[in-house]
Amino acid sequence: MSSASLSLDGNTYDLPLITGSEGERGVNIARLRSESGMITVDPGYTSTGSCESAITFIDGEKGILRYRGYPIEQLAEQSDFVEVAWLLLYGDLPNEEQLSEFRAQLTYHSMIHEDMKKFFEGFPNNAHPMAILSAMVSSLSTYYPESEDENEHDQNIIRLLAKVRTLATYAYKKSIGQPLTYPLNRLRYCENFLHMMFAVPCEDFQVNPVMAKALNALLILHADHEQNCSTSTVRMVGSSRANIFASISAGISALWGPLHGGANQAVLEMLQMIQDDGGDYKKWVKKAKDKDDGFRLMGFGHRVYKNFDPRAIILRKMSDELLSELGLSDPLLEIAKNLEQVALEDDYFVSRRLYPNVDFYSGILYRAMGIPTNMFTVMFSIGRLPGWLAHWKELRDSGARINRPRQIYTGANERDYVELAQRG
Ligand code: SDX
Repeated sequence: MSSASLSLDGNTYDLPLITGSEGERGVNIARLRSESGMITVDPGYTSTGSCESAITFIDGEKGILRYRGYPIEQLAEQSDFVEVAWLLLYGDLPNEEQLSEFRAQLTYHSMIHEDMKKFFEGFPNNAHPMAILSAMVSSLSTYYPESEDENEHDQNIIRLLAKVRTLATYAYKKSIGQPLTYPLNRLRYCENFLHMMFAVPCEDFQVNPVMAKALNALLILHADHEQNCSTSTVRMVGSSRANIFASISAGISALWGPLHGGANQAVLEMLQMIQDDGGDYKKWVKKAKDKDDGFRLMGFGHRVYKNFDPRAIILRKMSDELLSELGLSDPLLEIAKNLEQVALEDDYFVSRRLYPNVDFYSGILYRAMGIPTNMFTVMFSIGRLPGWLAHWKELRDSGARINRPRQIYTGANERDYVELAQRG
């Protein structure tokens, strides 16, 4: 069947069906308003697709996540973040020459203009690094005004991927009163990030290869997730033909919310609160079930995954491995595991199909690397950047129209203006 029939006010409208490469089907309602005068309404977009995309496939029922057809489990195990970034952006795994040139470009462009360092002086020391990151990414457009030039897109993609680490680590260094650390060209992507985060002039800092390997996998796991809130924001802003820096800055702001990428910070704060409260995790599971309590089990639940988030499965295993390899233990990991165990046996969570999501364990790993809690969502931004860029590029290359949703008006009907003296 290639169309769906909709009967309205005695009329029947045939709406074409779209079938994706994995058999997903959708009803194309683009002509619905012009033919029937009706629109569809779907607050939160639970059943609404905004586009067709070839970048990432998710099957929420089966817990499947693939980037350009490659299973996330294989990429996290066998690839590295720079290679995955190329895959998301250009559709296939790079060959030796492409990968080598891409790495070189990301190294070459990792510094920011010296004048941009002055911007950091204006932020208060306790400024949230997500506020700094979104402001600084948008400010990059003042240094690359040609960002309106369609041919500059690939160059600006390189600039953003290369410089996001520098901007993020400068925000961290500023917050702890340490001198900003320049990137080192001899280091690879993740090693350079860890160097800029933790090196200080008075020490000969060596990057821990175990941490670099874990960071590569963490960033791969966060690299894309189809039409989530922040990616949809990047596509929304990009659809007006706003420049790439403004579009990504908007995505960073959307990710910051505690219901989205900000959840990884909220999870660690929740685990710390439970520990400080005596560690009675069952008490907090009970509170999460109480509608009147307002407490939510952060890092639990997902709009798409309804059996498990494959990223959470990988991150839980990585948490054990990294802590063991570093010879560390973290009581918050034990609390997290106990919370998961109790919740997965509780009908409230089972009936609502609530499981740990990508944010539930990621903070344990960042913490083991010495990354502070308020930087966790910045880490999510660094990971998600290639996904945002790939969707922005896909949207612009498709020549898509500006996004402009409709609404159902529920306000006052027409009424005449009343002079101030005549008002009640
Ligand atoms: C990310 O979209 C993506 O792909 C996002 C992401 C990505 O990679 O880009 O995967 C990253 O954002 C992961 C999600 C991180 N957020 C959190 O962990 C915050 C806590 N989780 C929730 O707030 C919630 O589960 C959401 C936001 C993730 C999903 O929200 P939905 O789909 O709108 O679901 P809902 O809020 O309508 O909840 C449905 C029911 C409700 O109960 P009832 O009204 O049916 O009785 O489940 C309950 C909710 O109260 N519920 C929870 C809960 N999450 C949902 N109850 C307790 N604790 C929770 N965490």
